[in-house]
Amino acid sequence: MSIRRYAVFGHPVVHSLSPRIHGAFARQTGIALDYAAIDATPEDFPAALEAFTASGGAGANVTLPLKEAAFALCARTSERARRAGAVNTLTRSDGQWHGDNTDGAGLVRDLMDRQGLDLRVNRALLLGAGGAARGVAPALLDAGMDELWIVNRNPQRADALVDALGEPGRAISRYWEDLGRLGDFDLVINATSAGREGAAAFALPFTLTNDRTAAVDLNYGEAAIPFLAWARAAGCRRTVDGLGMLVEQAAESFHGWHGMRPETDPVYAALRERDATLVTGD
Ligand code: ATR
Repeated sequence: MSIRRYAVFGHPVVHSLSPRIHGAFARQTGIALDYAAIDATPEDFPAALEAFTASGGAGANVTLPLKEAAFALCARTSERARRAGAVNTLTRSDGQWHGDNTDGAGLVRDLMDRQGLDLRVNRALLLGAGGAARGVAPALLDAGMDELWIVNRNPQRADALVDALGEPGRAISRYWEDLGRLGDFDLVINATSAGREGAAAFALPFTLTNDRTAAVDLNYGEAAIPFLAWARAAGCRRTVDGLGMLVEQAAESFHGWHGMRPETDPVYAALRERDATLVTGD
């Protein structure tokens, strides 16, 4: 049988860990596959996906900033992709691209099973309303929190996400300028890309946290440093970066493509070893 072709599309994508993660899963499960990283801007993406399709692409992951564009290119989408309005996993079947979103399931699996966090909290705060936030918000609500407050620099995007979630009263949007007046949260999740701009972007009020707050950044590596540094300075009980979510969303995509669920712990441990300083906790 010929080797099946997979790829991650993003911009930039050169530092993506997805080829490494899928390569490790493939070795572990004995599946022969080729997994490339393909750089494409949102403008280039349709043509790049077409070229990948023509070359026999069987599946792809989609990362920043293409998740909403990917959604628009799919002939069919899963319910969780539709709820997110964003796609991170493409599967070729019957000559069409089928879109799924494994980010939310990956985040919830990492936070509950690996980090041991209870997500049935009273008040959670989601910072951001872009593709990353849209991907995780439905799964966070499904995990059983009473209230998910969504705050975004551009308030229309926060309102649109709350509307799309369809749970008025549980999903609540507020202005970024009002962060200092919202009280404290059990869980604060950073789904913005502000950390890529450096520490100055995280001048968030300490009143958002208490000594039981868990702070979670969907980013990993250097992009997670500013928010997690803020969370530690604010006295949060736990700080968690997005490395575990990355491995778990990949495992969920792998399962969809190959019908086998890989062991994520050894892959997570190997990546963490390279990046040892970014998760701390009790
Ligand atoms: P992603 O897929 O990472 O969510 P995105 O759709 O471009 O990418 O969204 C980036 C998110 O980070 C948005 O919520 C954005 O806020 P706006 O919608 O107001 O642009 C947020 N963001 C980026 N830089 C930020 C900053 N310096 N401060 C606050 N939010 C920021």
